[in-house]
Amino acid sequence: MQEKALRLENVTKRYGSVTAVDNLTLTVPSGIVFGLLGPNGAGKTTTLEVVEGLRRPDEGLVWWGDLDVTRHPDLARSRFGVQLQTSAFFELLTVRETLELFHSFYRRRLPVPELVSRLGLEEKQNARVDGLSGGQRQRLALAVALVNDPEVVFLDEPSAGLDPQARHNLWEIILGLKAEGRTVVLTTHYMDEAEFLADRLAIIDRGRVLDEGTPRELIQRHMPVAVVEVSRSVGVNSSVGLPAVRRMEERDEVTMLVSDRLEDTLVGLVNWAQCEGRTIAGLTTRNATLEDVFLELTGRSLRE
Ligand SMILES: Nc1ncnc2c1ncn2[C@@H]1O[C@H](COP(=O)(O)OP(=O)(O)O)[C@@H](O)[C@H]1O
Ligand SMILES: [Mg+2]
Repeated sequence: MQEKALRLENVTKRYGSVTAVDNLTLTVPSGIVFGLLGPNGAGKTTTLEVVEGLRRPDEGLVWWGDLDVTRHPDLARSRFGVQLQTSAFFELLTVRETLELFHSFYRRRLPVPELVSRLGLEEKQNARVDGLSGGQRQRLALAVALVNDPEVVFLDEPSAGLDPQARHNLWEIILGLKAEGRTVVLTTHYMDEAEFLADRLAIIDRGRVLDEGTPRELIQRHMPVAVVEVSRSVGVNSSVGLPAVRRMEERDEVTMLVSDRLEDTLVGLVNWAQCEGRTIAGLTTRNATLEDVFLELTGRSLRE
């Protein structure tokens, strides 16, 4: 038997003249963390809503194993956990009351005390929602997503607005969900989050998949080696013809050289500077990141 998977087949969703999701085909194997990465307006949220069975696609199909999500959205939603926008909570209920309310909606469910302790909300279980910090609200939203013991958990920008400690805390919880055999699909526009959490990623923009793979595959495919940065005042430009440079870009005070062979580019740079009598200032080298991959593919930055 084929491994269970979440599959989108040629999914298109339009809002009037805007095509938010454009003939998108994707397979998410079960039991992994899958990331949808893209800038604002790329179509991440709409894609999630279609997959969750919350929005009907104009065209295409969504499957969870052999369950047709588009035809049986209610059945699908009983197996899915969806992290709600935290603004959807009743501010005057306590944490425990909120969980009990959502708990009452389902037949298959996890006990409320277990959810409270899983998400580290013990001390806040009698606190009202309107008094929670951003990180606590986010954990409550995750607890609500888990209330029906879901097979797939969908998280839309789970760490937006969280401080670094709350983010790392959340990341550990997400990895814990995977360790239990759940499938996690999340959207993000943070590179480090995608690189840390996702086993596989799809980079999307304008409703289309630009590429898909493990973070490492994406980096290697599009950014084989390294980035050399040097102060713009040095005056390197494309007419210098440095070896192994596949792309050059000026950003603020820095000239960025995307190199296929770091050594060749560096030797070329040093030789050129000596011949021309220039001083190399602000030289740094670094490994390529997903941010660089994204720039290479779209010409746009993820952080707009
Ligand atoms: N309810 C809606 N009505 C009309 N247009 C929408 C609606 N939701 C999203 N859009 C548009 O669809 C595109 C994709 O949006 P969205 O899925 O929210 O992207 P992302 O989550 O990646 O930021 C954007 O151009 C956005 O303006
Ligand atoms: Mg969104």
